[in-house]
Amino acid sequence: MNLQTLSPTITNMIRMDHSHVLMLFRRFQPGVTQMRKKAIVSNACLALEIHAQLEEEIFYPALRRVLGPDRMLDKSVPEHQEMRRVIGILRNMEPEGPEYDQTFRELMRDVLHHVADEESMLLPAAEEKLADELRPLGAQMTSRRMQLLRPHLGEVAVTTAQSFPLASLALALGILALVLLARRGSTRADGREAEGRRVSLGSTRSSRQDWQSSLGGS
Ligand SMILES: [Fe+2]
Ligand SMILES: [Fe+2]
Repeated sequence: MNLQTLSPTITNMIRMDHSHVLMLFRRFQPGVTQMRKKAIVSNACLALEIHAQLEEEIFYPALRRVLGPDRMLDKSVPEHQEMRRVIGILRNMEPEGPEYDQTFRELMRDVLHHVADEESMLLPAAEEKLADELRPLGAQMTSRRMQLLRPHLGEVAVTTAQSFPLASLALALGILALVLLARRGSTRADGREAEGRRVSLGSTRSSRQDWQSSLGGS
């Protein structure tokens, strides 16, 4: 099995990226702490930048090849550029500042419109016109994503844990449960092994007794 057969289609990967960002948007609520707010914004901005670059390098050119001139496709890159501009402003702001929330909500609104256009027009068009290429393109996107993410893995881990504390807790508990299960399994195996050794020693002793009694009896 290679990456191409395991990889999701490029259109489903794009939908998953959109869902991740929408989940972050939903967590950006008035009551959240400044630390979590900043983590949500950092995580969303990086996710959006990587997603936009992947679309521009892989998805849009493939779609352009089969669609030719297309109004929706034509406005996609300028919309990404506007998104990058707002992300640049947000990165120079602190969450305590008066315009932080408003600027992030402006980004949210633009992204929601852009995502709606992609999901309602561009993704179905790709699924119709690029049917045989969707999985290889998905594989290409996966390997490029790994390259782009590599320098940011530490930041992604921290901001994801701060943005989704319950999910991180569930993950940590899941890992803990697996460790405990594994340890229980190995303790049982050790127990069985010790029991086996006792049986084995017992049988050695009984063999020795048999042997001694047979000597005594002789
Ligand atoms: Fe896009
Ligand atoms: Fe997108």
